[in-house]
Amino acid sequence: MKTKTYANHLSKFLLCLIAALSLCAVFALAGCSSGGDSSADTSATTEAAESTDAAATDDGSYTLVEEGKLTVVASIDFPPFENLVDGQPEGFEVDLMTAIAEQMGLEVNYLPTMKFDALVPAIAAGGTADVSAAGITITPDREAEVDFTDPIMDSNQCIVVKKGSDIAGSADLSGKIIGGQSGTTGIDWAKENAPDAEIKTFDEYTAVLAALQSGQVEAVVMDKPVADYYILNAYQDCEVVEAIPTGEQYGIAVSKDNPNLTAAINEALQELKDNGTYEEIQMKWFGTTD
Ligand code: ARG
Repeated sequence: MKTKTYANHLSKFLLCLIAALSLCAVFALAGCSSGGDSSADTSATTEAAESTDAAATDDGSYTLVEEGKLTVVASIDFPPFENLVDGQPEGFEVDLMTAIAEQMGLEVNYLPTMKFDALVPAIAAGGTADVSAAGITITPDREAEVDFTDPIMDSNQCIVVKKGSDIAGSADLSGKIIGGQSGTTGIDWAKENAPDAEIKTFDEYTAVLAALQSGQVEAVVMDKPVADYYILNAYQDCEVVEAIPTGEQYGIAVSKDNPNLTAAINEALQELKDNGTYEEIQMKWFGTTD
């Protein structure tokens, strides 16, 4: 009886011990797995996030505001780069962006025209368009806000006046009223080089040139290829009196948050240069590849 009791006690004790030990083990494991795992989890998550980022860089993935589309925003008043004809955008950059999108397996989608000085901020803010291609000169100020692709075109400024004007060049701008498009490098040039001229800015080049025709402004500083095009096709009573060799280069603006998109566009652009498409588009709009 005693023995049995003892044996009973012993077995109860052993059972308790086993139970306690296994509970400890469970807790230890749980502790280990919860504590250990959660910290492991955190680092695993971080690592996973990092490796996703790394993978994003590696696999070249980029984001698009609308799936399957390269959404472009521009100030569509800049022929022969972009112009609205019967409500449709057309021009060198329109063709180039269409070809780039196609090369990337995307459809190009032009948003309605936007004020030029709103383009870089819109791309920097994100969410509206993937890119802006609008004869945008690559400048250090803009590069602080957005990324640019490789240059797509060289350009310079020029001074446009109404035929018969007494302004024969930059030396005659002092005290005159100079017009231009808001936020452009032409306006920057005028501010720097004609400090005592009055400067009037407009949202669209058609308004700038209409102001020149009506005498509201006496000279316009704008990109030469666009001035040449406008004068030849619409504003024949105006003329270029001086070319200003600023040595500008246009780039496509992309958000700094989307570096792989910039890389993918550069790759597509290179391919279009290699396969002759870029030259074809250049010939179509400029009749020369210089
Ligand atoms: N190249 C000049 C600049 O970047 C003028 C561009 C104007 N572009 C336009 N689409 N209106 O400031």
